Amino acid sequence: MDIIIRQEKNEDNNEVYHVVQKAFEKADYSDHDEHNLIKRLRTSAKFIPELSLVAEYDNEIVGHILFTEIKVGDQTLIALAPVAVLPELQSKGIGKLLITEGHNIAKQLGYKGAVVLGHDKYYPKFGYTKASQYGIEAPFEVSDDNFMAVELVNGGLSDVHGVVEYAKEFFEK
Ligand SMILES: CC(C)(COP(=O)(O)OP(=O)(O)OC[C@H]1O[C@@H](n2cnc3c(N)ncnc32)[C@H](O)[C@@H]1OP(=O)(O)O)[C@@H](O)C(=O)NCCC(=O)NCCS
Repeated sequence: MDIIIRQEKNEDNNEVYHVVQKAFEKADYSDHDEHNLIKRLRTSAKFIPELSLVAEYDNEIVGHILFTEIKVGDQTLIALAPVAVLPELQSKGIGKLLITEGHNIAKQLGYKGAVVLGHDKYYPKFGYTKASQYGIEAPFEVSDDNFMAVELVNGGLSDVHGVVEYAKEFFEK
């Protein structure tokens, strides 16, 4: 299966909208509005164009991932949210490609760590562990197991403590 991971272009926006909508249609722990969240985040001050990536298969977009800037104390990190793969193509490693390529690019851009709110069985495959172990807290109520963080460079989170400040667009509708 030849999957290409590349930066999203403006002309992909519509296709991404539909892919994300479909991916989350039947997902648990979702408000089923992630496609609109992405739309808002593209115009956010916290948007990082290099970290809005699509997965392409046979010239069609089949997956998408977005990382946006967050603040924790005086440090700038990134948050992974959301990631989506078309239902019929899930569990084929496309999510894994999006996350690992996203981490590689983030590292090149100089980001030292990432957080995610998500499934505690999935994200540990990519090095995420409980954010609370680093002293990083969510700005909302969440189970300790589901709020996770990863160091993108060794020791990247050693000086990071506090409550995550997400882009304000996460909380708008
Ligand atoms: C989560 C998601 C992006 C993963 O992408 P994917 O291409 O299916 O994932 P991969 O092929 O890289 O990994 C598949 C593995 O992850 C596991 N997995 C996938 N989704 C999971 C979930 N929601 N909870 C726990 N494990 C999950 C699969 O069981 C599989 O495990 P295995 O390799 O041991 O068989 C995709 O399933 C998806 O779009 N889900 C709906 C939207 C969503 O929930 N997004 C995440 C919230 S931000």
